[in-house]
Amino acid sequence: MSSENIYILGIESSCDDTAAAVIYNGKILSNVVASQKIHEAYGGVVPELASRAHQQNIVPVVSQALKEAKITKEQLNAIAFTRGPGLMGSLLVGTSFAKSLSFGLNIPLIDVNHMQAHILAHFIDEAGYEKPSFPFLAMTISGGHTQIVEVKSYFNMKVIGETIDDAVGEAYDKSGKILGLGYPAGPEIDKRAQLGNPKAFKFPRPRVDGLNFSFSGLKTAILYFVQKETKLNPNFINENLNDICASIQYTIIGILIDKLKRATSVTGITQIAIGGGVSANSGIRGALKDGEQKFGWKTFVPKFEFTTDNAAMIAIVGYLKYLERDFANQNITASARLKI
Ligand code: KG4
Ligand code: ZN
Repeated sequence: MSSENIYILGIESSCDDTAAAVIYNGKILSNVVASQKIHEAYGGVVPELASRAHQQNIVPVVSQALKEAKITKEQLNAIAFTRGPGLMGSLLVGTSFAKSLSFGLNIPLIDVNHMQAHILAHFIDEAGYEKPSFPFLAMTISGGHTQIVEVKSYFNMKVIGETIDDAVGEAYDKSGKILGLGYPAGPEIDKRAQLGNPKAFKFPRPRVDGLNFSFSGLKTAILYFVQKETKLNPNFINENLNDICASIQYTIIGILIDKLKRATSVTGITQIAIGGGVSANSGIRGALKDGEQKFGWKTFVPKFEFTTDNAAMIAIVGYLKYLERDFANQNITASARLKI
């Protein structure tokens, strides 16, 4: 890429993870995440608590990232930070911190779009990881996002489908709440799904035109189904938990794969890169592998630490923008609804 020696600090604080990472010429030297456990008791992220925890975490997390990278802050060439989208109170902590640090060190500031970062995480240099080539489709699936994006180059991307209500991870987490599982419920539903019968119960598929998604109806259908069955048998959930989880997972993965199939046929693009916490799901991974056999897809799944919210993905975007000298100035503000 470049003969320069560039160190970038990436800072991420858009939701409930405070994260910092150092990247050196495209290679990650450190990737530190402080996850906020406090939200577990509430079954979802509480924005006020999130911003307070970011304020407590940001200095130690950044110090740790520099320490693990074995550099001092004076060696940094630029500071990259998540400008949005996300929770305003959370974004403000990272934004103010990044602005102050770049001002204090007198080095460039680089604003990063969190959704672009989930996609560009595929370009982190990792031994043995083959990067997608342009153009490709990116599907970002997490507790906060569900999007299909057509990616023509690093900074030329277009959202071609997204959720009109809940994100796919929310569908997992809210279904888990109905079933009495802990938060976040995605990993447990996934584990149990592998032990159950995916066709035991049938849940309706939403009817949404084009490449958009809708998951709120599924959650309601599951709620009514569980209420009805527990009236007949109070032990219904316990006796059928693995089958219920398998049936939910089968429905959700079916929805995702159906939209991906449409996206490949609309665009003619068969390279598919996924990101976001739900990309850890065994069902989606299996379905993508099947797609390689059945439809000739080429699929890309990055290392788990680069798919959930993290600062390595912010740092790689920082690096790519640094090469283009695409810098922000001190007037920049956080943007909760920033679009790709
Ligand atoms: O990317 P992430 O860590 O944070 C954001 O939401 O931005 O994603 C967390 C989401 C949660 O909704 C969690 O339930 C879901 O990812 N998740 C999973 C799995 N692992 C995490 N969902 C299904 N199967 C999994 N194995
Ligand atoms: Zn995210």
